Amino acid sequence: MNETVLTPFLFRHASKDFDPDRKIPEDQFLTILEAGRLAPSSFGFEPWKFLIVQNPALRAELHRHTWGGKKQIPNCSHLVVYLAHKRPRLLPESDYIQSSMREVLQLPDDIIALKTDYYGNFLRSDFGMIDNEMRLFEWSCRQAYIALANMMTAAAMMEIDSCALEGFVEADLNTAVKQHLQVDTDQFGVACMCAFGYRVRPPRPKARHSMENVVRWYD
Ligand SMILES: Cc1cc2nc3c(=O)[nH]c(=O)nc-3n(C[C@H](O)[C@H](O)[C@H](O)COP(=O)(O)O)c2cc1C
Repeated sequence: MNETVLTPFLFRHASKDFDPDRKIPEDQFLTILEAGRLAPSSFGFEPWKFLIVQNPALRAELHRHTWGGKKQIPNCSHLVVYLAHKRPRLLPESDYIQSSMREVLQLPDDIIALKTDYYGNFLRSDFGMIDNEMRLFEWSCRQAYIALANMMTAAAMMEIDSCALEGFVEADLNTAVKQHLQVDTDQFGVACMCAFGYRVRPPRPKARHSMENVVRWYD
């Protein structure tokens, strides 16, 4: 196997304790964000937003509702909240989807009409979720997690540690981001958070199912 590729994957672990005195240099953190921004997404609609919460008082508001990040949130160098888009922004005719096709993907009008149709069909018939707010939000979260993974790997490539944080009370955390981070929670919900920084102690050895347990080949 290719050691160069695997080295960052072996370096990365869910860091519980971050060194409060070490900050990620700005250009390296911007590289991590860029790796998130470049993540792939279904139809290319990028249904995510990354909030970087550095203010200690605001971190404290998130910390109150996060049992899985008690040690990480106060001490990490950078804390990212991943928002996923909700149903109103994901509907085929929404301003967000239409302007993404027009301004970001720069598609011509006839292709936009075609893609709107295809996308509507995908939400309605193929996945049967156009009227299901929860499924649409989860679909959006799945994509935000691709950006999360890109960012953790990019960090590890620069020997920066991370810990994905999903150990929170969802309803309370959404209320907190609405109140303290001015997030419109009709449009967005919290998918996950991630702490980035530097470990204070070596990680435990990796524990994973064997290749045979998780892979099946069909020749
Ligand atoms: C989506 C997601 C959410 C997670 N949430 C937490 C969390 O809230 N607190 C925590 O300490 N670890 C959290 N983890 C870390 C996992 O427990 C960890 O990745 C797993 O046990 C494997 O260990 P490793 O990452 O060190 O290889 C999370 C990981 C993922 C991918």
